[in-house]
Amino acid sequence: MKKIFVFALLATFVYACSQSEGGDKGGSEPTAEAAPKVDGEKIYKTYCVTCHGLYGDMGASGAFNLQTSTLPVEERINVITNGRKAMTPFKDLLTPEKIKAVAEYTLTLKK
Ligand code: HEC
Repeated sequence: MKKIFVFALLATFVYACSQSEGGDKGGSEPTAEAAPKVDGEKIYKTYCVTCHGLYGDMGASGAFNLQTSTLPVEERINVITNGRKAMTPFKDLLTPEKIKAVAEYTLTLKK
């Protein structure tokens, strides 16, 4: 009779542990997924490298060198949103939030 009691106690203990482990996992996963922030670098590498190059100085299709550009961020947002000469507008491709993020990223290319 005593053995059964010990076994039951053990089983409850193991059960409780596995429960709390499962609970931990469930709690941490959603927070990891809730993190995605607009990533300007990723947007740049997707949409801009074809003309401006990875470091901003490729200059394909007459693209301005973003390393030497002195354009303030508001003007960059304007160029990216509405385009300029050979540069295509991005207002239909990117949300204003993404345009701002990528404009801010281009500032980091400056030497
Ligand atoms: C089709 C090629 C092309 C693509 C793609 C492109 N650009 Fe451009 N970009 C240009 C050209 C060409 C110019 C110069 C426009 C001019 O002559 O007025 C330019 C100019 C700019 C300028 C202005 C620089 C200055 O000093 O005046 C910024 C900022 C800029 N691009 C950022 C971006 C960003 C950010 C992306 C991606 C979202 C992007 N470009 C994608 C071709 C491109």
